Amino acid sequence: MAVVAGNWKMHHGPRATRAFFSSLTLPSNAGSHEILVFPSAVSLAAAVAAPERDPLVQLGVQNIHWEDKGAFTGEISASMAREAGAAFTLVGHSERRHVFGETDEEVARKFKAARQAGLVPVACVGETLEERRANRVEEVILRQLDAVLSSVDSAEGRFLLAYEPVWAIGTGETATPADAAAAHGTLRARLDEALGPSRAARVPILYGGSVKPGNARELLTASNVDGVLVGGASLDAASFAALVEAAG
Ligand code: PGA
Repeated sequence: MAVVAGNWKMHHGPRATRAFFSSLTLPSNAGSHEILVFPSAVSLAAAVAAPERDPLVQLGVQNIHWEDKGAFTGEISASMAREAGAAFTLVGHSERRHVFGETDEEVARKFKAARQAGLVPVACVGETLEERRANRVEEVILRQLDAVLSSVDSAEGRFLLAYEPVWAIGTGETATPADAAAAHGTLRARLDEALGPSRAARVPILYGGSVKPGNARELLTASNVDGVLVGGASLDAASFAALVEAAG
């Protein structure tokens, strides 16, 4: 069983969201996998209501605020997202960290808020090209992981991790299966240490960064890669179906 997740970023308004679900035909293996789509917040209602949406496709939001309500113009809270039909949320996507300046501490607060509201967070970690060249991959991804783990105060509630090397996102550059396996192994070992092996085993670690139908299979067979988080190649219904098919 793999997780196949589509992060639509700032693409697909309500009309394009309805069109996506009306043309999406999931392959016959879909029931063996967990399938997630993260539309923009303004398209969530259209995705929830899309009559043709297969209930196998679960929905999430791409970002939340850590407070439950208040004077935070432009933000949405975890409880609002949940009420609107989201079951999942991304937190700490590299575009949030690097374009909008989110810190590890803010990501941890969002992670905690999601869990408190009953949303399943997908915490994203990953190094920049400069950090990779400076041999700092482990240090960076463990720092980012430790920040979210420090907010895990109860055994309740699920979460997922995604390793998304910043240099591989939207660039056509994909980590090799060996690069992915090395980073995922590092994350898996820390999860084991922090949560104990049986709880850690319930945390899937997704790979993201230029995943396409043509390379998904190879990445999914790398060790400790439990799923994929896909941007560009998740926008087209046929391509998304092909990604699910590639999960085997
Ligand atoms: P990409 O994006 O597949 O377009 O590289 C992945 C992501 O940012 O989640």
